[in-house]
Amino acid sequence: MWRELLHIGRHPDSRGYRRYAWTGADAECRAWFRAQAESRGLTYEVDRNGNQWAWLGDPSAGDAVVTGSHLDSVPDGGAFDGPLGVVSSFAALDELRARRVTPAKPLAIVNFGDEEGARFGLACVGSRLASGQLSLPQAHLLTDGDGVTLPRAMEAAGYDPDALGPDPERLARIGAFVELHVEQGRALDLSGDRVGIASAIWPHGRWRFDFRGEANHAGTTRLVDRHDPMLSYAETVLAARREAELAGAVATFGKISVEPNGVNAIPSLVRGWLDSRAEDQATLDTVVGGIEKAAREYADAHGIALDVVRESFTPVVEFDHALRDELARILGEDKDKDKDKDKDTDLKVPVLGTGAGHDAGILSGTVPTAMLFVRNPTGVSHSPAEFAAEDDCVAGVLALADVLEGLACA
Ligand code: GLV
Ligand code: MN
Ligand code: MN
Repeated sequence: MWRELLHIGRHPDSRGYRRYAWTGADAECRAWFRAQAESRGLTYEVDRNGNQWAWLGDPSAGDAVVTGSHLDSVPDGGAFDGPLGVVSSFAALDELRARRVTPAKPLAIVNFGDEEGARFGLACVGSRLASGQLSLPQAHLLTDGDGVTLPRAMEAAGYDPDALGPDPERLARIGAFVELHVEQGRALDLSGDRVGIASAIWPHGRWRFDFRGEANHAGTTRLVDRHDPMLSYAETVLAARREAELAGAVATFGKISVEPNGVNAIPSLVRGWLDSRAEDQATLDTVVGGIEKAAREYADAHGIALDVVRESFTPVVEFDHALRDELARILGEDKDKDKDKDKDTDLKVPVLGTGAGHDAGILSGTVPTAMLFVRNPTGVSHSPAEFAAEDDCVAGVLALADVLEGLACA
């Protein structure tokens, strides 16, 4: 499975993945998902929001155990963020079949559409639409860098944009959703564990800062006569770093667009996107408030107009405690089988929080949700250098199989 996916959407120079929602690379990934489902005799369906599902058992029976993740990527993303969860889901199902396990509940694998938000700026569009956290008017306004709206992009990819909307009946079929994901930090590497369980996701959001100044000649305009929005933007980037450091949070300007974007022209507009995350809401508010205040001061000093727009926001997610404890029990038990009985039998699988967003976080308000993390030895993610060792990926598959067996056979 891994080999089949490896070439899709990979840029020959950067070696990173550019699998943006509703593009050709995305379609290839989706065709792969469908082929995996059908080759296993699973019931394949696409929901009204373009999310793909592969069912073992009767989807309408209810109390289903669902696993899966996403196949799209950030610009020049790694191979693991998303695909590891989907590949592991199919592999875990194969493992259950090899164990001759007969689940008492329906099982499903899902590929959520547009998790990264690389194309339209909003993350987790598929799960937000399904759970009613993205309204139709908002969805219709989502536009990519070429001016193509989300509905038109989906239509061009062969989907019906008129069908978009909340999908409560489908989500009501789910008794538990478990997403496996490569860890995007080094907690497991430092603790020496292959697999961990998620506790919480930090609150996070994206803000667009538009600095508008005055285009002019780079050679003939005296420094004192300039209204250069790049200066205010640059000072704001430094303020973001400072505010995040002070608060123990993170703040990143990772995307920028400049008009007219000429080497010999002072810009008229610098648009920068801030991504900021913190352990709790109050800290995040302090950080973003501090950055915006500093940006306004710098803008005023240079005669620049500033607009700040919050483009998306995801509050703190506490994963379902009962499900989390159930996963810990299942995985703790299984690990003990191979251990000396006189060893400590307390929890063997660490429970960790994360600053990364996931469809599991979006769904957590609607269905009981949990996550498994697989060790990432460098912690690098959203980069071609993202990595997990094969042994650890196999440990993740076996852990997921144990969890599915424990939940679906209970
Ligand atoms: C998604 O991976 C995010 O946390 O931005
Ligand atoms: Mn990601
Ligand atoms: Mn992901």
